[in-house]
Amino acid sequence: MTTREIRFGVIGCGLMGREFASAAARWCHLKELGVQPRIVAVCDENLEATEWFVRHVPGVRLVSQDYRELLADPEIDAIYCAVPHHLHAQLYADIIRAGKHLLGEKPFGIDADSNREILAVMEQHPDVLVRCSSEFPFFPGAYRIQQWIREGAFGQIIDVEVGFWHSSDLDPHKPINWKRRIATNGEYGCMGDLGLHVVHIPARFGWMPASVRALLKKVVHERPDRDGHMVPCETWDNAILACDVRTDDQDFPLLLSMKRVAPGHANTWFIRIRGTELSAEFSTKNPKQLAYLPYTSGQEQAWRVIDVPYASAYPTITGAIFEFGFSDSVLQMWAAFCDELANGSSMAQPFYCATPAETAASHTIFTAALESQRTGQTVLLR
Ligand SMILES: NC(=O)c1ccc[n+]([C@@H]2O[C@H](COP(=O)([O-])OP(=O)(O)OC[C@H]3O[C@@H](n4cnc5c(N)ncnc54)[C@H](O)[C@@H]3O)[C@@H](O)[C@H]2O)c1
Repeated sequence: MTTREIRFGVIGCGLMGREFASAAARWCHLKELGVQPRIVAVCDENLEATEWFVRHVPGVRLVSQDYRELLADPEIDAIYCAVPHHLHAQLYADIIRAGKHLLGEKPFGIDADSNREILAVMEQHPDVLVRCSSEFPFFPGAYRIQQWIREGAFGQIIDVEVGFWHSSDLDPHKPINWKRRIATNGEYGCMGDLGLHVVHIPARFGWMPASVRALLKKVVHERPDRDGHMVPCETWDNAILACDVRTDDQDFPLLLSMKRVAPGHANTWFIRIRGTELSAEFSTKNPKQLAYLPYTSGQEQAWRVIDVPYASAYPTITGAIFEFGFSDSVLQMWAAFCDELANGSSMAQPFYCATPAETAASHTIFTAALESQRTGQTVLLR
């Protein structure tokens, strides 16, 4: 099989920029996919952040502080962009206008207006593939649940919960960073930071809320800055959204929770679906375990808990008995992006990366949540 190479530029060489580079570096982990990313250029306004790439990524031939240099380079096919939220609208729109395929980071615009700006530019460039990063649905347990949704295996859905919980912000001495300031992270706070991860699967299956009632909470009001002075910590720490989903054939409550202050949780993403014929639960806290309860009338109700094998969307060299982790989910997401770029709708498996339309759905929900918090009312979306 011949392998098509996709030449990538990385804009934003922080935490997530390095994750992508690491995933690209172990592409041999995937069984033959026929497509492979190669990072050829990196950009960060802070040149120090690019040094790691120069040391660890052999193919890098362009290092810049100005992302426009990457956009002007005809030898770059696609961009991974992982920068603070206030820069998404400008950078993503410029990347798409330059004709570069884009995997951008969430929330895909600091607010609903910025998100609309990006989507408007995208509509003028239909040949450019634009997707948003969201890796948790690629955990084998989450992937299995999606297969069950597609098959209609749950019967009538009783209710759904999706959450993403962190706890490092429980420490009031953790220094402030851009993710805790409205100017750089956005008014959504934890919803902008964590929210697309919880909306991705519901949006993919058309579970759009007809109404939202939000309870938002600030837990830590001040944090030390780099010099140790206490400064306001402006963003919402925790959000619980009670949503009323109405589809053509199903009505059910959807509970979305995004928490920066959830004691005991490091990076816990979970989904729970209860249905009349099947219930299922998966959490990254126990990444091997999938719990499910099939039900037929008159039969016992017994949860089954299985160790899901390493059955990933894209086959790998890893033996089925081994465990799947965060960096595996990032590799799988990248495989989906590159597969879709190379093969369009004939991609090897059905789960493509989050779409701009799905990010727009998340902005609609989070904007309604802010209004609900302000007014204390349920906000109707239809
Ligand atoms: N998918 C995930 O699981 C996940 C996890 C964490 C963060 N994110 C998202 O990734 C994005 C970046 O977050 P991060 O944690 O990597 O942040 P980070 O602070 O670690 O890195 C951001 C980088 O962008 C650089 N930067 C700032 N302005 C720039 C500019 N004008 N041009 C080029 N570079 C610039 C900064 O110097 C920094 O190195 C955000 O959108 C965030 O929400 C996603």
